[in-house]
Amino acid sequence: MGGNVKGSLRFLWPYLWRYRRGFAMGLAGLAIKDLLSVSQPLVVRSATDALGHGFTVRVIFEFCALLGAVSLTKGVFQYWMRVILIGISRDVEYDLRNDVFSRLVTLDSEFYSRTRTGDILARATNDMNAVRMMLGPGVMYLGDTLVTLVLSVAVMLRTDWTLTLIALAPAPLVSLAVLGFGRRIHDRFETIQGMFSDISSRVQENLSGVRVVRAYVQERAELANFEKLNRGYIHENLRLAKISGVFNPLLTALLGIVFLLVLWAGGLRMAAHKLSLGSFVMFNLYMGMLVWPMIAMGWVANLLERGRASLGRVRALLAERPRIAAPAVPRPVPAPLHGEIEFHGVSMLFSDGSYGSAAFSNGLYGNGSLSNGSYGNGANHNVSDGSGHRSDAASGPRLQSDRRVLDNVNLRIPAGTTVAIVGHTGSGKSTLAALIPRMIDPSAGAVTVDGIDVREFSPGDLRRQIGFVPQETFLFSATLGENIAFGVEHATEDEIRRAAEIAGLAPDIADFPDGYQTIIGERGITLSGGQKQRAAIARAILRNPRILILDDALSSVDTATEERILTSLTGVMRGCTTILISHRISTIRSAGRIFVLEHGRVVAGGTHAELLARGGYYADLYEKQLLEEELEAI
Ligand SMILES: Nc1ncnc2c1ncn2[C@@H]1O[C@H](COP(=O)(O)OP(=O)(O)OP(=O)(O)O)[C@@H](O)[C@H]1O
Ligand SMILES: [Mg+2]
Repeated sequence: MGGNVKGSLRFLWPYLWRYRRGFAMGLAGLAIKDLLSVSQPLVVRSATDALGHGFTVRVIFEFCALLGAVSLTKGVFQYWMRVILIGISRDVEYDLRNDVFSRLVTLDSEFYSRTRTGDILARATNDMNAVRMMLGPGVMYLGDTLVTLVLSVAVMLRTDWTLTLIALAPAPLVSLAVLGFGRRIHDRFETIQGMFSDISSRVQENLSGVRVVRAYVQERAELANFEKLNRGYIHENLRLAKISGVFNPLLTALLGIVFLLVLWAGGLRMAAHKLSLGSFVMFNLYMGMLVWPMIAMGWVANLLERGRASLGRVRALLAERPRIAAPAVPRPVPAPLHGEIEFHGVSMLFSDGSYGSAAFSNGLYGNGSLSNGSYGNGANHNVSDGSGHRSDAASGPRLQSDRRVLDNVNLRIPAGTTVAIVGHTGSGKSTLAALIPRMIDPSAGAVTVDGIDVREFSPGDLRRQIGFVPQETFLFSATLGENIAFGVEHATEDEIRRAAEIAGLAPDIADFPDGYQTIIGERGITLSGGQKQRAAIARAILRNPRILILDDALSSVDTATEERILTSLTGVMRGCTTILISHRISTIRSAGRIFVLEHGRVVAGGTHAELLARGGYYADLYEKQLLEEELEAI
C-alpha cells in the first residue's frame, strides 16, 4: 500500500510540479482563509464579553464592522483558493487526458483485441474524473479541514480543555458514518451508472440495428429485454434511495448529539463560573464550524481512495506500450521506396487465449485492495459494451491453442509490379497484407521492403509511403473531402478531385447535395457500400503511395464499375507496387502474378493463363464465376 502511494505520487509529480506556483498560491489562500475563519469566533467572544460589561451602540457597531470586514476578506481568499486549486485539478486532468489519448492512438491492434472499448471509455471518463476529484476538491478539503481543525481545536483547548474533549468525543463517529455510508452509496451509484450504460447501449444497438430487429420480428423480445433491464435499474435506484434515506437523518441526529453535549456540559461549566458567556458562545460557533470538517473527513477519505484506485488504472493504461514500435535506432526509410517486397519464411500464429480476454481487466480491476465494487460487479458489461466482445465469451471455457494462420510463406514481389492474392475466405490473405505496413508483426520469418526488414523502420515512416485500403472501410463523420484527404496534409482540392476520379467516385459526388463538402456518417448522408470503398481507395491514392494494397477493396461494386476503376487505376498502379486481394477473378486476372493461398500456405503462383492450365482452386473458381456471369447475362 505504502509503495503504491509512493508510486502514485512519483507518477503524478511531473503533472503537479508544472503547477507548483499555483499550488503554493492556492495553499496560501487556504491558510489565510482558515486563519480568518478561526478568528471570527474569537471576535464574537470579545464582543459578547465586552457587552457583558456595558452596553453601547458604538461597541456593537465596531464589532459588527470588524466581523463584516473579516468575513469579506475571508470570502475573497476563499474564492481565490477555490479558483486556483480547482483550476489546477482541471489543468492536470487536461494534461492527463491528452496523455491517455495520445497513448490510445499509438497502441496497436493487439491492445484493442484484448481490451474492451467500454473499459477504455470508463478509463477516459470515470477514472479521469475520480483522479481530478482527488487532486482538486480532495486535496483542497483535506488541507482546509486539517487547518481549520488544528487551529480551532487549539483555541478551544486553550480556553477549556475538558469541554473541548467532551464536545469532540462523537466526532470520529460522524466521520466513520460518512465514510461507511459514503462508500456504500458510491458503490450503489456505480452499479446504477453501469446499468444505465447497459440500457443506453441496448437502446443504441436497437436503434442502429432497427432494420434487423424488424426483419427478424424481434420487437417483442427486445421490448421484454429492455423492460427487464429497466426494472433492474429502478430496483437499484430504490436501494440507493433507501440507504441515503437512512444516512441523512442519522447524520443530523449525530450532529444534534454533539450540540446537545456542548450545551449541557458548557451550561454546567458556565453555571459553575468556569466559563465566560463569551467563551460559551465561541464554543458553539466553533462546533458549528467543525461540523463540516467532521463530515468532510469521511468524504475526503472516500475521494482519495477512489482517486487512488482510478489513478492506478490510468497508470496501467499509460504503462501500455505498443508492441509494434520503432527500434531504438530506426533505419531511415528510402525516399522514395522502390517497393520491392519479400516474405521470408513468414509464419503467423494467433493464440486464441488472448482473445476477448480478461487479461487487461484482471490486472487492473480485480486488484483486491483497489476494487471498490464499481468494476468487479459484472453488471456493467453483461449486455454489450459496443466492442463486439461479450463478457460471456471471456468467461466460458476457452481453448488455449495457437492457430497457424500463415505457414512459412515465401514470396517475392518485384518493385513496380502488380501481384494478386486469391484464396478461400479465412485463408490468411488479409493477414498477409497487414504484415507489409506493420499493422502486425510476424511470429516467425521476416518481411522485407527494399531488402530491409520492416521491423528496422519506424512504422510511421514506412506507412507514409503505403496506401492501404483495408477490407473494412472506415470513414469519419466529416466531409467527404476531409475523409479522402485524411492523412495528407495540405491536399489541394484538385488533388482530392483527381483521387476521387481515379477511384471512380467522382460521378457519385456530382450527385451529392454539397459535393465534396457533403457531410457523411452519423451526422450526414449514408454512403453505399461501394461508395465507401471507393472513398477509401481515393484516400489511398491521394498519398501517392509507393506500395498500394487493396484488400478486397472492390468487393461491393459491380463488375462493370470495377473494370472502369481498374482501368483508371492502371496509371497509379504503374508507378508503384500493387497488391490486389480479391475473390473475383475478374479483378485479378490481369495482374502480373497471382498467388493462391490455402490454409496460410502459398500453394500456387503464376499468371492467369498458367494457373488456369494448372487446374485446382483457381481454375475451379474461374469456371464457377464464368458460369455465374453467363447466367447473369441471360
Ligand atoms: N488478430 C487476429 N487474432 C486471431 N485470429 C485472427 C486475427 N486476424 C485474423 N485471424 C484469423 O486468421 C484467419 C485468416 O484471416 P484473414 O482475415 O487473413 O483471412 P482472409 O483470407 O483475409 O479471409 P477473407 O477472404 O474472408 O477476407 C482467420 O481464421 C481469422 O479468424
Ligand atoms: Mg480478408
